[in-house]
Amino acid sequence: MSARVYIETFGCQMNITDTERAATGLRRAGYELIQQPAGADVILFNTCSVRERAEQKVYNRIGELRKISGNNMPVIGVMGCVAQLEGPAIFDNSTAVNFVAGTQATDRLPALIERARGGEEAVVDIGDRETGEVWDVSPVERHSPYVAFVPIIEGCNKFCSFCIVPYSRGREKSRSATEIIAEVQSLQKLGYKEVHLIGQNVNSYRPKSPDGLEGHAGATPFSRLLRAVAATGIERLKFTTSFPRDFHPDIVSAIEEYPNLCDWIHLPVQSGSDRILQAMRRGHDSTDYLKRVEGIKNSRRMLSLTSDVIVGFPGETKQDFAATLNLIDQCEYDGLYIFKYSKRTGTPAARLADEISVAEKSERFLELEQRQQAVQQKVYSDYVGRKVSVLVERGSTRSSEDMTGHSTCHKVVNFKGGPQLEGQIVEVLITEAKHYSLYGRAC
Ligand code: SAH
Ligand code: F3S
Repeated sequence: MSARVYIETFGCQMNITDTERAATGLRRAGYELIQQPAGADVILFNTCSVRERAEQKVYNRIGELRKISGNNMPVIGVMGCVAQLEGPAIFDNSTAVNFVAGTQATDRLPALIERARGGEEAVVDIGDRETGEVWDVSPVERHSPYVAFVPIIEGCNKFCSFCIVPYSRGREKSRSATEIIAEVQSLQKLGYKEVHLIGQNVNSYRPKSPDGLEGHAGATPFSRLLRAVAATGIERLKFTTSFPRDFHPDIVSAIEEYPNLCDWIHLPVQSGSDRILQAMRRGHDSTDYLKRVEGIKNSRRMLSLTSDVIVGFPGETKQDFAATLNLIDQCEYDGLYIFKYSKRTGTPAARLADEISVAEKSERFLELEQRQQAVQQKVYSDYVGRKVSVLVERGSTRSSEDMTGHSTCHKVVNFKGGPQLEGQIVEVLITEAKHYSLYGRAC
């Protein structure tokens, strides 16, 4: 009998696509993929290291499984960002781990698993991808039958002072446009309704050659790529994340030209204080950022805007925090992800003094959350009486009579309907706005 593998994924969309890619490669190599840890011969944790809590999660999970498994411990592997950063140190943190596979070792997993299953101890591969191997696996195992993530750029060159990603994911590498377009076309044939172009910073997209972008006018390679992918006719096209400094107004123009380019932009600001933005090494101040927001808000299409903010960066004073609150009011975001600053060893910010206390960070977190909730209540209630187009993803967990999905503007929308609608795009008239979701009826 072939070995059964269970993969548990933490973290961002990039990790989700790496899991898809790992699953594809493992199935090709003859493994059976299962959806729960019980009965697995191999358990793989695809890990995230962006904040300390995320990193701690994996060790807690290993501990839990150890209790459940008793003497029948499966072979355990750690892949992803923690694996890349910690390497063999993982074996010191958890003796249950048999092998470690870095962020560039996904395609070599079958060999690593076999070495570990063969009894070799402490197997580690945190090396680079092999030449020619970089993007050539188009996953056939996808996390959803309707929505597909397509990586266009991996890694990050920005080195924001708080962030570990440039160390765990390496330098920016853009995928060829021809390959991206071919993948989207094949997804379309398979019936996928929505594609998300993903990357740490999608708008820093810079392929080695312009192949595939010919004939698609645009100010930057990314806006040309958006036009080229939208021209495939895929029903809905989203992209995330955009980096403010590289956010060219032509991206908004492309969205205006192609109705299938969705009306949602995720543009993380991190802080509203110029002093803190400088210490974060973001490469922009609040005025630059607000200029881009103005361009987005002035679009003739109504665009939804979301963001990330970190509270409690070292040295953040009450005035700095007040500047963030102020910016949040000005931007009227459709959604905001708030994070408490988490010190990451190896980043420049880890050496800064003036750490903010845990209690203060929590206080700021709650204050910002409340402020955003007030903004969001207004933004969401503006949708009442309007129609949105929803890709129906599943039955609602709250009510057996409701279905749920995302609008083109990336809001969660619930409405009365049956499971036969799953995978379809439905027009929904919004009748009620909650804090984080909309409710309506199909029309
Ligand atoms: N451009 C990337 C950002 C990756 S990290 C992307 O979204 O793909 C995602 C978010 O995590 C960041 O925008 C930031 O708000 C938060 N984050 C990153 N490092 C952090 C840290 N050390 N402490 C707290 N939050 C952090
Ligand atoms: Fe991190 Fe800044 Fe890059 S937040 S992923 S270093 S753009």
